Amino acid sequence: MLKGKTVIVTGAARGIGAAIATCFAQNGANVLLNSRSASDALRETAAEVDRLGGRSHISVGDVSDSAYVQTMVADALNAFGSVDILVNNAGVIKDRPLLFMKERDWYDVLDTNLSGAFLCTKAAIKPMIKQRWGRVINIASITALAGRSGQTNYGAAKAGLIGFTKSLARESASHNVLVNAAVVGVIDTRMTRQIPRDTLKEISEMVPLGRIGRPEEVANVCLFLASDMSSYVTGTTINVSGGGYI
Ligand SMILES: NC(=O)c1ccc[n+]([C@@H]2O[C@H](COP(=O)([O-])OP(=O)(O)OC[C@H]3O[C@@H](n4cnc5c(N)ncnc54)[C@H](OP(=O)(O)O)[C@@H]3O)[C@@H](O)[C@H]2O)c1
Repeated sequence: MLKGKTVIVTGAARGIGAAIATCFAQNGANVLLNSRSASDALRETAAEVDRLGGRSHISVGDVSDSAYVQTMVADALNAFGSVDILVNNAGVIKDRPLLFMKERDWYDVLDTNLSGAFLCTKAAIKPMIKQRWGRVINIASITALAGRSGQTNYGAAKAGLIGFTKSLARESASHNVLVNAAVVGVIDTRMTRQIPRDTLKEISEMVPLGRIGRPEEVANVCLFLASDMSSYVTGTTINVSGGGYI
């Protein structure tokens, strides 16, 4: 479904980003894998991309660093000759009730989840516009729609990402660059392993499908959004939450 396409996946070392990188590789894509730190997990995901028949390129850096982001996109162009798909997946949580939230935790979450997506998109959309084909996929969260205690910073960032998705979709449609968001529920990754077991059990019981999701289940939706199967879909938010938000 993605033969010959180049994708940049931010936050690709593990969790949802790693699942997207490997799913896209399985479907023929070349993958630039970004992550903030040079970890074994990042190298292992890149090796898996190669094993699956894609070509991998690792780029280590912070998506909220504008200078780094320019280099990341230039690296993808040098390595593969094009940039066709961007998945803004890098994200962090720093949960705390508002009264106790440090200003640093507010800005860190906004910087990575929202400003990082802005910077990566601004850099990566230029080649997409030039070639008149592109896909931007933003990984949002149901916290943006439903709210969650302790996540005012994260909820604001992810709601901002949905607004960003909709405005950019209008702006770039005439260039055949489609922009969509996956609005994700609770998925089994290192991020959610920070949640106490009892709370996680309660959350699972509230999900109509009766369980939390797997990273691959988000990757499959992103594959649809990245491929020609979604040629008439832009500016939308696709809810991947097992019915956790309806
Ligand atoms: N898991 C869920 O239940 C859930 C639900 C809704 C939405 N989401 C969203 O899905 C996305 C992926 O989440 P996940 O659960 O897979 O998270 P995860 O397992 O914690 O992985 C996050 C990835 O993002 C990278 N990252 C963090 N900050 C970065 C930065 N400033 N620059 C570059 N890379 C950075 C991490 O890199 P390092 O390891 O190098 O730090 C890691 O590779 C996030 O946007 C998250 O908000 C997740």
